[in-house]
Amino acid sequence: MSHFRSTSWLRLLLSVSVFLQLAQSSAQYGPLMAPLAHQPRQSSLFSFNSTWQVLGPFQIGTREATWGADPLEYVGGFRHLSYDSAATFRSSLPTNGSATWNITQAVQVSTSANSANASLSVSYSNVNWDFLKTVYGWAAVQYQAWARGELIVGGNETQHVILHTDAILEYWVDDVHYFGGDFYTFRKAPPVLHLEPGTHRIDLRLVRDVRAFGGILEPTIDVVVDVRQASGTLELVKPGLLLSDVVDGKLASPFASAFLRNSGQEDIEIVDIRPSNDTHSSLEKDLSRIVLAAGQTRPVTLHIVLPSQNASSIVYNITYRSISNTAQSTLQVSQDLTHRSMYDPHKITFVHPGGMVSYTMFRPPAKNATCHNSHSKAPVLLALHGAGLEADNGMVTAALDPVSDLCAFVLFPTGVTPWSGDDWHNWGFTDVQTAISAIPGWIQIVDWKGPQVDIDRWIVSGHSNGGQGTWYALTHRPDKIIAAAPVSGYASIQKYVPYELWQPADPRRIAVVSGSINSYRHEMLMANAKGIIIQQQHGEIDDNVPAYNSRLLAQQLQLAGANSSYNELPDKNHYYDGIMTTPVLTDFYYSQARNDAVLPRKLEQFTIVVADPGDMGSKGGIRVLQLHDPGQYGKVKVKGRVIRTSNVASLEFDPTIWDMPVAVDGQEIDLVNQPTEPDTWFTVRNVDSSWTASAIDKETAIGQRRGRQLGSMTAILRTQGPFIIQHAGSTNTTTLALQISRNLHQYFQADASIHSSFSDPAIMNATGNIITLAVSATDIEPLSDFPISIRTAGLSVTDHRNRVQEYGDAVRGAAFLRPAGGDRLELVIWGVDDEGLRQAARIVPMLTGVGQPDFIVFGESAKWRGIEGALAMGFFDSDWKVTASSVVELE
Ligand SMILES: *[C@@H]1O[C@H](CO)[C@@H](O)[C@H](O)[C@H]1NC(C)=O
Ligand SMILES: *[C@@H]1O[C@H](CO)[C@@H](O)[C@H](O)[C@H]1NC(C)=O
Ligand SMILES: *[C@@H]1O[C@H](CO)[C@@H](O)[C@H](O)[C@H]1NC(C)=O
Ligand SMILES: *[C@@H]1O[C@H](CO)[C@@H](O)[C@H](O)[C@H]1NC(C)=O
Ligand SMILES: *[C@@H]1O[C@H](CO)[C@@H](O)[C@H](O)[C@H]1NC(C)=O
Ligand SMILES: *[C@@H]1O[C@H](CO)[C@@H](O)[C@H](O)[C@H]1NC(C)=O
Ligand SMILES: *[C@@H]1O[C@H](CO)[C@@H](O)[C@H](O)[C@H]1NC(C)=O
Ligand SMILES: *[C@@H]1O[C@H](CO)[C@@H](O)[C@H](O)[C@H]1NC(C)=O
Ligand SMILES: *[C@@H]1O[C@H](CO)[C@@H](O)[C@H](O)[C@H]1NC(C)=O
Repeated sequence: MSHFRSTSWLRLLLSVSVFLQLAQSSAQYGPLMAPLAHQPRQSSLFSFNSTWQVLGPFQIGTREATWGADPLEYVGGFRHLSYDSAATFRSSLPTNGSATWNITQAVQVSTSANSANASLSVSYSNVNWDFLKTVYGWAAVQYQAWARGELIVGGNETQHVILHTDAILEYWVDDVHYFGGDFYTFRKAPPVLHLEPGTHRIDLRLVRDVRAFGGILEPTIDVVVDVRQASGTLELVKPGLLLSDVVDGKLASPFASAFLRNSGQEDIEIVDIRPSNDTHSSLEKDLSRIVLAAGQTRPVTLHIVLPSQNASSIVYNITYRSISNTAQSTLQVSQDLTHRSMYDPHKITFVHPGGMVSYTMFRPPAKNATCHNSHSKAPVLLALHGAGLEADNGMVTAALDPVSDLCAFVLFPTGVTPWSGDDWHNWGFTDVQTAISAIPGWIQIVDWKGPQVDIDRWIVSGHSNGGQGTWYALTHRPDKIIAAAPVSGYASIQKYVPYELWQPADPRRIAVVSGSINSYRHEMLMANAKGIIIQQQHGEIDDNVPAYNSRLLAQQLQLAGANSSYNELPDKNHYYDGIMTTPVLTDFYYSQARNDAVLPRKLEQFTIVVADPGDMGSKGGIRVLQLHDPGQYGKVKVKGRVIRTSNVASLEFDPTIWDMPVAVDGQEIDLVNQPTEPDTWFTVRNVDSSWTASAIDKETAIGQRRGRQLGSMTAILRTQGPFIIQHAGSTNTTTLALQISRNLHQYFQADASIHSSFSDPAIMNATGNIITLAVSATDIEPLSDFPISIRTAGLSVTDHRNRVQEYGDAVRGAAFLRPAGGDRLELVIWGVDDEGLRQAARIVPMLTGVGQPDFIVFGESAKWRGIEGALAMGFFDSDWKVTASSVVELE
């Protein structure tokens, strides 16, 4: 354990979740912990039986569990099986090819007056893990199993409880299914349950993931279930507010967030939020109606005005009422203020485009920073954290203390969560960009007199997951980046933990899933880095993220005509104090903060590789707006004024660089004489194999697919405003709407409003992307010319050759994107019945690496065969037509 302790908080990839659980337990739950396998007293309100029945192991691929791929579903599901010591189940992993039931004792069960928990550590001695690893690598030590235990509720009343499920993705409580869980142990959005006295069955699906559990040590699966009594009404998810620090007497930004949970059985409306002593400050009253559905957790935004410069805390009253009741109640929330000098690293909050408050840690140039030229503005230095780290943990900012006098505005963004939302991709990088654009507001608020900032010039660095995020920034925002230092990062999730051991599938389907994450396969995107100064660094003996990742990218950079300096640290592992300020990196920060290269760079010869134009900035002043087939990379090869494209449907040119005639695929286009508004870019489109200067067509019936509508299913994450979840209001759809809302908050800290009717007037004015849950064709407004139609019985897909494929009895459910007016998107989740809807709802974006394309039609067998059980899956092109790269199974 000492190895973990020494590197504990700064390990970005928690090799051992046990460590975190112990750390957390002693911090939060220490006094409640009972000795090993302690049998709870009968009088306790809650207790877990320490005996668990386990069935496994079975193979599972990296991030495959979202698709189902549970072999026990073939025999009706674990929930329908009973312990039988003689039963055997075919499995590819254990000796003799058979998995069996086993009895295991919880490592620990504990009980207190109003809570109880159980920690399980499951391992298998009948699998030769080491040998499998020599063949299949880290993919071999990811496996799945199920565990069954009991929660005993005492007393003689229904108990309102919350259930934390650390490191668990899926479970059942009695006959109720839960998908999502808390795979990374965030503990932000547990479900609310109302449990009768007596014994409740808990079935846990155990899924091992090397990125969360580590690849080197014994392949155990360590999970915790923790039940706590809840208030049965509005309550704080955690004490206090997310709030900016106070710098020299001023709040660095007015935005704050309270995290609220409705643990009752009726919807609750927030009536008012105001300072508890309202003699001293006023609040702008723009509270739109905020409703927390029964069981829902939501972040709620507050605009704070400090009572006085030296106030030490603030107290707010949140007034609420039950929807069916006019009587109001008050929940009080208080937060101590942190006072800092404006030169010290401090916290700044801002509103993420998703409509909730996020924060970044921030350090402006020091008083004695040597800014070489008082006329030019200082750049932004981004320091992206690793997985499992909260940016306000002092050690994150301390990593750059040794270079405190840099002439740069240093940002330590969060990416919204300790796993940076989605590994600094769609949701997480949006957070980074919003953090950068918050700097000018800070300059005004604190009346900053130091060097000015240029928010379009970035130096990017990061460690581990943040190193990977640095590659993401390099390859997706090349025109904003002066220089980058990716440290101990991985090339892509597939290169980190191989996708071997998914259920067997037609390579075309594998290509669709794989194509859905093309934008995050950095080893394919190295051409985009040409012209940027790159300083790589990796520990030689890194056993968390192998140095292979950095070596591979160094080589790929060279092969793509780009370049990097590669610094491998002999005998160094993944992390040690000082890894971000080695002599090489220190020198890099100082020299790049002085780099006055002009951006965007004019390059004589370069290539742009684009997987998802919705996710890609310009390079060399050229931006790809649309691809013909988003299942495949698009390329733009530029040599002087000669441009060759492949799979590109439209392009845009920055007039400050491109003010001349160009030849696009042999066709002359004069960019000088295009009619264009000042400051707008020239757009050219490829229509019927010919390039013409014209804007993207927004006028057709459903408009062209564009901007933030592009990308695979994760494009739904480019919401502006809280997500809108709409459904017909049945018990089952209500449960699923809550589940989606919970997962969006748990994994992205996102906000969602739930509407139990499709005609709720509150939906009219909302701006967010929409998630629709439907079991009836009449719940889904038909869209003319759209290739997927829900029928009274079944569903049809029109393929790229205009063949209409009808799916009748075989179809169970579907998930697909469609346009929702303006640049918005709707994600339709449809099932032939509630069970089919539940199957389809698993696919709503949550974990990275799952690979959801634009549409998926599910058959029953996806539950055990995974993607091979999908009847159709693939992409929509820029006209919202199904692409040729899609799979449409013929019946
Ligand atoms: C705990 O569960 C085991 C079987 O899983 C059962 O035999 C035992 O009676 C249970 N103990 C209690 C106290 O309920
Ligand atoms: C091997 O598996 C078969 C069933 O697949 C089972 O009958 C037999 O008992 C198993 N042998 C051992 C040693 O586990
Ligand atoms: C059964 O569980 C015990 C206790 O967790 C474990 O030591 C043993 O290895 C398991 N049996 C098999 C076959 O893995
Ligand atoms: C259960 O209810 C009875 C009366 O209905 C009461 O006397 C008793 O205290 C209750 N027990 C508990 C544990 O609440
Ligand atoms: C805030 O709540 C407290 C306690 O309920 C109450 O005493 C106080 O008057 C409230 N303040 C306002 C401004 O309503
Ligand atoms: C409310 O604020 C006023 C003005 O700052 C102060 O004089 C008063 O003592 C405060 N009241 C309470 C109850 O804190
Ligand atoms: C600025 O001050 C810090 C500590 O106060 C010191 O370590 C650093 O060397 C100084 N830098 C310059 C350029 O004077
Ligand atoms: C929608 O916005 C309009 C204009 O701001 C307002 O008049 C109307 O009341 C709003 N409707 C709802 C349902 O909030
Ligand atoms: C809810 O869905 C389940 C299947 O998941 C189904 O058995 C049940 O009948 C549904 N309940 C209602 C009230 O429709």
